Amino acid sequence: MPRYAYVNGAYHLHRDAGVHIEDRGYQFADGVYEVIALINGKLADETGHLDRLERSLSELSIDMPVPRKTLSLLMRELVQKNRLRSANIYIQITRGVAKRDFKFPGQDIRPSLVMTTWPFRFDGNAAVEKGGKAISVPDIRWKRPDIKSVALLPQVLAKQTAAEKGAYEAWMVDDKGFVTEGSSSNAWIVTKGGKIITRDATRSILRGVTRTAITKICQDLQMSVEERPFTLKEAYEAEEAFNSSAVALVVPIIEIDGHKIGTGEPGPVAKRLYEEYRAYARGERGEEMAWSA
Ligand code: PDD
Repeated sequence: MPRYAYVNGAYHLHRDAGVHIEDRGYQFADGVYEVIALINGKLADETGHLDRLERSLSELSIDMPVPRKTLSLLMRELVQKNRLRSANIYIQITRGVAKRDFKFPGQDIRPSLVMTTWPFRFDGNAAVEKGGKAISVPDIRWKRPDIKSVALLPQVLAKQTAAEKGAYEAWMVDDKGFVTEGSSSNAWIVTKGGKIITRDATRSILRGVTRTAITKICQDLQMSVEERPFTLKEAYEAEEAFNSSAVALVVPIIEIDGHKIGTGEPGPVAKRLYEEYRAYARGERGEEMAWSA
């Protein structure tokens, strides 16, 4: 089965797809992206992801390359072309191709739009079922991680450190000792008293679309969520920990920096929220959540 990618108005075989060497995404990381889960043929949280995409673009004064409705259709077309039902869809928009110059190019430059997909098994996912280990690293990112920009080098280094230590995720910690988020996910803990805590979504983290949905699901289920910074020490002493993202949805964290979390097995809250999110993504909880900064 050939695999296709979308690049600026045309479908190409994935192995041949490419962008120009003077694309500003390539030279300056001057662009943004989204990752959306396709679960059993349905795009999960499409509304929230497109809301956030528009906001990231507007923060960087980049225009939408195509109207939002067209983007939705293109995503569906790509998924169909690749005959996928369970996958992740990657959308990247950069300021476009221009002679290398730091300041923004003129109005005649069109933003670049690239989309790729890769199959992903949501059922029987080992990370979800067995849980993963995390390590902590200093958060060395720029001061606008609320924008989903493609400037991901600090996260690349964090994830590599995690991989070298046999861990699934790196939890980033700010200068004051508070956890910000995972390198590519939001971070959550459940205290011994049963409180669910995740950092408040200020400019210091990416406001995850999955995070937004989980917060609302918790409210509906009367599971109280406290949105506030928490320390690494609180995380070590937590009953449960987990990460949320559009890639694997909810992944239980069973160890942080060698400290066993709770029983050292995926906990009931994380497991339940994984199932509840799946039900939400199937459309069983009514309308999809909007996303707002
Ligand atoms: N990352 N925080 C960071 C730093 C992230 O990169 C991500 C997602 C999240 C979770 O956001 P959401 O729930 O909207 O996926 C939080 C994507 C999946 C990635 O870079 O692959």
